[in-house]
Amino acid sequence: MPEADTTKPTKQKLYYEHIPQATPGFFLKGAGSLDWGMKNRLSRIFNPATGRTVMLAIDHGYFQGPTTGLERIDLNIVPLMPMADALMLTRGILRTTVPPALTRPIVLRCSGGPSILKELSDEELAVDIEDAIRLNVSAVTLQVFIGGEFETRSVHNMTRLVDAGLRAGIPTMAVTAVGKTLTRDAKYLRLACRICAELGAQFVKTYFCPEEFETVTASCPVPIVMAGGTKLPELDALTMAYNAIQQGASGVDMGRNIFQSDAPKAMMQAVAKVVHENMKPKAAFDLYETLKNQKAKKSKRNG
Ligand code: 5RP
Repeated sequence: MPEADTTKPTKQKLYYEHIPQATPGFFLKGAGSLDWGMKNRLSRIFNPATGRTVMLAIDHGYFQGPTTGLERIDLNIVPLMPMADALMLTRGILRTTVPPALTRPIVLRCSGGPSILKELSDEELAVDIEDAIRLNVSAVTLQVFIGGEFETRSVHNMTRLVDAGLRAGIPTMAVTAVGKTLTRDAKYLRLACRICAELGAQFVKTYFCPEEFETVTASCPVPIVMAGGTKLPELDALTMAYNAIQQGASGVDMGRNIFQSDAPKAMMQAVAKVVHENMKPKAAFDLYETLKNQKAKKSKRNG
């Protein structure tokens, strides 16, 4: 039988009437009013201690096939996975190649359609939310082509994914896709990111721009993670990540700048220092070189 409520003086100690229940906010920008499941999933992706994330993007195959560095995800990428805060990938790679025992949070690519041979903005939703639930993912994601030929369709894809995500408690990350003809300046990125947030995305992935990136993050009411883009020399990629973080980004979602690096594991560790510990680019690059050389020496020793 459960204990009855007591009227004895000891009651006071149990109820702590003098301490009001705390109603803490939430560490992530714009997420204070979300439901528990959303917040919990976001807390798997963004480290609650720093409010930031280092995501590894390996979803390129969904429109461009076996991209350089992703030819054998089982051999070259799976060993990297435990080092990332979250993984952005397709359900095909998740089911065929990622060990289910890996507990890194998954951000599932849910749009698709055209290949690199066609108009990229001509995308549709390509995953049912039920499958995202079945796969136990922490977020769903898709491209939004602001200014692109099929702009309205891609925005509608996003709002439908957001609605489905809200029903399931799964956040949506909108990716602001930049077509071949669109300029990646602050004015464009402010427009694209703000539209995604206004229409319900819980976080946005977008490109860094050298001028006024802080206005992009400031005018977006949800967290922004910086997209990596084309492979750069490691010091340049670390500098770009550092500048994005210092100008208000809540993390990075990098692909080619990690898996096309000469030393992907070393690069992951250097990027994590920049993102979570505000390490300066030169120090992070020195760390990258040290880790890379250690690995090279070890491989030489082992023949
Ligand atoms: C394009 C994407 C990609 O599929 C991918 O995530 C890009 O990663 P990176 O540019 O860092 O190689 O989202 O916008």
